[in-house]
Parts: sequence; C-alpha cells; structure tokens
Amino acid sequence: MNISRLANTLEGSEIIKIAGEINELKRKGEQIANLTIGDFDSNIYPIPDELKAGIVEAYKDNQTNYPPAEGVAVLRDNVSAFLKERFGLDYNSKQILVAGGSRPLIYGTFMALIDPGDKVIYPTPSWNNNHYCRFTGAKEVPVITSAGNNFMPTADDIKPHLKAATLLALCSPLNPTGTMFAKKDLEEICDLVIEENKSRAADEKPLYIMYDQIYSLLTFGEHFHYDPVSLRPELKDHVIYIDGISKCLAATGVRVGWAFGPEHVIDKMKTIVGHVGAWAPKPEQVATAKFLTQPVELNVYLTNFKAKVQMSLDALYQGMIQMKADGFAVDAINPMGAIYLTVKVDYIGKTTPEGEVLKNSAEVNFYLIKEAKMGIVPFSAFGTDNSVNWFRASVGGCSLDDIQQMIPRMRLALSKLK
Ligand SMILES: Cc1ncc(COP(=O)(O)O)c(C=O)c1O
Repeated sequence: MNISRLANTLEGSEIIKIAGEINELKRKGEQIANLTIGDFDSNIYPIPDELKAGIVEAYKDNQTNYPPAEGVAVLRDNVSAFLKERFGLDYNSKQILVAGGSRPLIYGTFMALIDPGDKVIYPTPSWNNNHYCRFTGAKEVPVITSAGNNFMPTADDIKPHLKAATLLALCSPLNPTGTMFAKKDLEEICDLVIEENKSRAADEKPLYIMYDQIYSLLTFGEHFHYDPVSLRPELKDHVIYIDGISKCLAATGVRVGWAFGPEHVIDKMKTIVGHVGAWAPKPEQVATAKFLTQPVELNVYLTNFKAKVQMSLDALYQGMIQMKADGFAVDAINPMGAIYLTVKVDYIGKTTPEGEVLKNSAEVNFYLIKEAKMGIVPFSAFGTDNSVNWFRASVGGCSLDDIQQMIPRMRLALSKLK
C-alpha cells in the first residue's frame, strides 16, 4: 500500500474489537456484562460534582483560548503541591507537563527518549507499551511475568536485559492486572537501574524509567503505592512519571493528564506534545487546578468511589473463588488497586456443545461473550501469547447488579464445555 511503513505496521486495539462484538450483541437487545473496557459508566461513576461545576464555570468565564504548551501555570503549581502532599515528591512547575490525558505524555516520553533501534524493556502483560515501541521503532524487550508474583516484574526478570537499554516502562497499580509492586520488588529494580547507570559513560544515553502511576490513588485496603524516586531519590534524573485524573477521578473523557520528571526531558516532551497539539482543554485544566486545592472534597469523593469499585471487584473475586471451590477450572488474584481483576479461565482445549474446540484464549473469550453474555479481555491483548489462560475483568463499566447476575451465567456456560 502507498502509505508509510509505520502506518502499515500499526495494529488497532484488540480490546476495541472485543468491545465491538459486545456492542453488536447489545444492539440486538441482549443484556450483557461488559467487563472489557478500562473505562467507567459515567452514570454509575460520575466525576466529582465540584470538578463538573468548575468546568462549567471556566467555560462561562470564557477560558476557551489556547492554553500554554506546558499547561496553565495554576494547574502545574497545584500539581506540584499535590505531589508533595500526597506522595512527598518534590517537583517544581517546570518539571511538570500537562496534556490531554496521559496517552500523549507516554507518547512524548517515548519520542523524547527513544531513537529507532533503542531497547525498551516492559513487562507483559502490560498496557500499550508494544504500540508505543512500534511508533518509535524501538527494539521491544517484553519480559514475561507470572501469576506467582501477581504478574508484576521482579529484578531477576529484568536484570538480563538491562545492558544498553534506554527505557524501562513500569506501571503500578498495573493495567491489566489490578496488582501492585511490593516495596522490596520495586526497590530491587531501582537498585539495578542505579547500578546500570553508574556503569555507563558520561556521553552514553542513560537508562530511564517511565513510571505510569495513573491508578495510584485507586488502591484498596492495606496496599500501599510505592514509586521509584520516593524509594531511591538518586533516581530523580532518570524517572519520568505519568499521572493525571482519568482514572482516579473517573474522568476519562475530561482529558487532563500530567507527566513529571527531569526538566530537560519534560521540556522536550513539551515541544513534542505541542506540535501534536495534544493539550488538555483549557477549561478542564482550570477546573482541575481548582479541584486539587479542595482536599476534603477530593478525599470524600475518593472514599466513596473506591468503596464502590471495591465492592464490584470483591463480588467478582468472591464469585470466581466460589466457582473454583466448586470445581470449575477458574481462579482470580486478590484485587489490590485500579479497576481490574485478574481472572483465570482454564478452558483452552475444551469442546463446546456444538462440537467446536476452543483453541486459544480469544476463542474462550468469544464463547463466554456468546454463551454467558459477559465480556472480558484475554491477556493476549496485553502482549502475552494466546495460550495464556488469564484475562482482565474491568469493573468500571458495569453495575454491581450486572456482575452478580453474570456469575450464574458464567457457571452455566462453563459447565457445558467438555
Ligand atoms: C496504565 C494506563 N496508563 C495510561 C492510560 C491512559 O490514560 P488517559 O485516558 O489519561 O490517556 C491508561 C488507560 O487505560 C492506562 O491503563
């Protein structure tokens, strides 16, 4: 085709294909539990009232011209204060870049650091790192993780690949698993990066960490969010953080994200994001800035929001564990953060009542969509092989009721497989 090599190699999202299948069934009037998209039903999970009012107010106040390329000053100042207060992190407003959600900032990080052929290490399963590698012509180094460590990478997993790598892309709480780094695991990885950078010459590109903590405020129970610079301050020049309001304020359509890190990298990212024109809308920036100065309202919102998400995750988790106890070949990992449950559905190789053998995780998934009226996402959409029988279940788009009604349908559908 007479289009670019890059365009020819890009792949669409597998999740969106699955969601398309589900929407088709919905159009036909089927009641279906859609646990596919990492998004929220905004009637179940609305954004904070104060944020909504602030956005309307900013439009009324005609805050509708171009924002500065780095984001409005008051938002960067308030993010700076927020980082200090919530995480104890010291970043001034020049080390913070605002964009239209966190995706442009991930793209900006890759574009600012990666030359074609540079090695990028990322764990699988993980969200979209493969696509950003292809955008930049990076040499992809996927590191396979295991259920035994909650699908989080360890220093031992990463160590063999660090020589000459440019970027290590990490995320916690992790999409797709809803699991998080244990302190010791992240410390050991940080120590490897410090050691690796000590071994490099002054004119060599260092090894950077991109740390995506977009779900950092969505953690449950005693699970604590750790980050590299808090654990190892000497890493500060080599970590680019990805953050924003999309997930923690259920504000996926509001489009306000921020990155923070060393000024010389953030400054280049500003140019990249600016040329793409991927700014966050100015009224949304102004309103977010204001909301960040309302800690009481923010905490009340987070408490209620997290309780609701956790109830859905727990219902799903308990449902799976009960099925396991009843002899079904399923399992789940206790949810720690984000909006995801890691679910095992070990039915590859089984035969449907129509006599079809389910050859891989995608076929198991489509069987569940058809028979159980439920949609989850195989880990193959997050970079694993399609023989892996683990799946992501995202609870943001479903009510608790939908989830509770789905479990018996799943039991019935699985019991028909031989
Ligand atoms: C780990 C992770 N980072 C970033 C994003 C993108 O967030 P945004 O909507 O702010 O672009 C997502 C969205 O699913 C995500 O799961």
